Amino acid sequence: MAWSWRRTSWRGLAGVTLVGTLLGLLSSTVPAHAIVNGTKATRMPPYMASLQEYRRHICGGVILDDRTILTAAHCLQRQSPPSALSVGVGSLRLDGTTNYPVEKYVVHPQYSMFVEYNNDVAVLKLATPLTFKPGSVGPVSWPPSSGQPPYGQILSIAGWGLLSEGGSAPNDLYTTNVMVLRNDEEGCSNYSREGRLSDTMFCAGYPDGHTDACQGDSGGALVNRYNELVGIASWGQGCALPGRAGVYTNVNKLYSWIKANM
Ligand code: ARG
Repeated sequence: MAWSWRRTSWRGLAGVTLVGTLLGLLSSTVPAHAIVNGTKATRMPPYMASLQEYRRHICGGVILDDRTILTAAHCLQRQSPPSALSVGVGSLRLDGTTNYPVEKYVVHPQYSMFVEYNNDVAVLKLATPLTFKPGSVGPVSWPPSSGQPPYGQILSIAGWGLLSEGGSAPNDLYTTNVMVLRNDEEGCSNYSREGRLSDTMFCAGYPDGHTDACQGDSGGALVNRYNELVGIASWGQGCALPGRAGVYTNVNKLYSWIKANM
C-alpha cells in the first residue's frame, strides 16, 4: 500500500513544478506510513490501550473506566486464560506503556452467530484499577445522541497495527481519518452484496481504499472529533484495498450489553 501511495504522489509530478518535485522527493523518503497511509500520532489519545498476550501486542482496546477495557471479541478468539493477558496504557510507544493484568473478560454471547464477526465486542476487567493521568490515561466518552452511524462524517482511528497489508508492525502509535459509509456506498457495497454486514457493523473508509486500519488495529476506538466513541475496529478484506473499506463494530447498537457488562 505504501507503494501505491508513492506511485500516486509521483504521478502528481506530471505537473513538473519545483514544488511538486520537492514534495515528491519528500514523500518518497518519509519513512513508513500508517495504520495504512496514516500518520504517527503526536498526542496520546488517553483512552487508547494495547491488549497484549504474553506481553505481545495483539489488538487495540478502549478505556471505559478505571477497571474496564472494551475490545473486539475476535481478539479473544484463542480463548487465552485471563492471566496471559494484560493491557498497556499511557504511551504512544508500545515499549513505554504501563501494563495492567487482566482479571477476566466477557465476550458477547452472540458473537459471530449467523454472520461472521457479528457482535464483535468484548469487555475486559482489570485486576487493579488504572491510574488516570490527564492527557495520557483516561476514559473515552460516548456521544450524547444514540442512533445510526454518522454517515459522511470523518472519524479517526489509531492503532499499533500493520503499516501495510502483510507488512511490519510499528512501535509507535499511528492514526488516520476515515469516512463513515452507507452499506450501499462504494467501499461498502461489495460486503453488503456478499451478505457480510449485520446491523452491529458499519463501514468507514474510502471508495478507493487509500487509508485504513489493518491487522493489529482491531479493538481500537473509532472516534468523532469530540473524541467520542462511535465504533471499534473489527474487520476488513485486506487493508486499504479499493472497494473494501474497514468494518467497525457499531457500539451504539451494543451499548446496553456493554453497560451491563462493565
Ligand atoms: N481484524 C483485523 C485485526 O484483528 C483487522 C481489522 C481492521 N481491518 C481493516 N482492514 N480495516 O486487527
